[in-house]
Amino acid sequence: MHPYSLKSSKGAPILPRPIFVFFIASFGFYVCYLSFNQITLESGREGNSREEQRDCRKPYVPHEELSYVHFPKPTSYSRGECSCTPVRFFVIVSMQRSGSGWFETLLNSHPNISSNGEIFNRVDRRENISSILQTLDTLYNLDWLTSAAKNECTAAFGLKWMLNQGILENPEDIVSYLKKKGVSVIFLFRRNTLRRLISVLANDYDKDAKQLNGTHKSHVHSKEEAEILAKFKPHLDPSTLITNIRNIEKAIRDCLDHFKSTRHMILYYEDIISNSNALFQVQEFLRVPVRRLMSRQVKIHTRPIPDLVKNWEEVSSKLNGTEFAHFLDGSDYVK
Ligand SMILES: *[C@@H]1O[C@H](CO)[C@@H](O)[C@H](O)[C@H]1NC(C)=O
Ligand SMILES: *[C@@H]1O[C@H](CO)[C@@H](O)[C@H](O)[C@H]1NC(C)=O
Ligand SMILES: *[C@@H]1O[C@H](CO)[C@@H](O)[C@H](O)[C@H]1NC(C)=O
Ligand SMILES: *[C@@H]1O[C@H](CO)[C@@H](O)[C@H](O)[C@H]1NC(C)=O
Repeated sequence: MHPYSLKSSKGAPILPRPIFVFFIASFGFYVCYLSFNQITLESGREGNSREEQRDCRKPYVPHEELSYVHFPKPTSYSRGECSCTPVRFFVIVSMQRSGSGWFETLLNSHPNISSNGEIFNRVDRRENISSILQTLDTLYNLDWLTSAAKNECTAAFGLKWMLNQGILENPEDIVSYLKKKGVSVIFLFRRNTLRRLISVLANDYDKDAKQLNGTHKSHVHSKEEAEILAKFKPHLDPSTLITNIRNIEKAIRDCLDHFKSTRHMILYYEDIISNSNALFQVQEFLRVPVRRLMSRQVKIHTRPIPDLVKNWEEVSSKLNGTEFAHFLDGSDYVK
């Protein structure tokens, strides 16, 4: 082959010079047109964000907190003057009869906290992982309108989720959602799971007996009502007692184990009762202004534990000598 064969392309027919120039020029125009368009687009975008910044000044957020801070744009209303108030997402993970109803009324007495109740008590919302995540998406977009929702100026928004409402069936997917979404978890459990069991049985009894003038109440707002409900002493089946307590404690352990990689705090009902700092710590955890929280709810079972059970002798001899013996003396429980 000729060593200069490439150069021989010179001889190939090429476009006449004017047409060539025309092409170059058109290409130049095209490039200019594209970049001009991009400039107008960008300046448009810049204009928008500048407008947003003029409306409000987003507060300084430390780098390590960024993934937990949100500026949701609900579709059902405008956050108005508080559109630049950062919102933290939370979930209270708990069990029935562990004080979570009371805890939630305490949180909702704060002007900047909205806790929206047990939204997963409806089966269709927890039927499968996609219905769970879709429900959470709606909630965390602040498009969940309950009486607890304070809308515009909410700074912490969340729900109450019981262990038997689909959490333990889908832990990996839920944990990865909570981490991706920057949701903080408040675990609320009872140390004395024997007292919890008594409360479950008493509450189940009242569902049928309706001791308060024919209405069933799980929570009460007066001492008189509390006394009426506390009169009933459940009988605890000694043959299933230890298994029951073990299952409850295992569910709590499993849950804490699955969720340990989330941002979380562990709270015990007994601590809220005996330690006035516990609720301040919760507010610090949620990064809301700390204040004294109030609830109208009244505690139902205030007496020493032997007075709460019909067959106390049986129960105490069954548990004495086991790992649950410390539930018997009530020393872990200060009224
Ligand atoms: C809390 O709510 C009040 C009243 O709605 C609002 O003025 C204030 O900016 C909110 N504070 C925070 C920290 O979100
Ligand atoms: C999940 O549950 C929802 C609500 O019940 C249902 O409409 C949907 O078809 C289910 N999806 C799957 C993948 O099973
Ligand atoms: C039950 O009804 C009676 C009569 O209406 C009323 O006096 C009493 O306070 C009620 N008790 C409770 C616990 O609601
Ligand atoms: C547990 O058993 C021991 C020894 O049998 C007894 O001394 C103690 O009083 C029992 N405690 C309770 C709470 O029943």
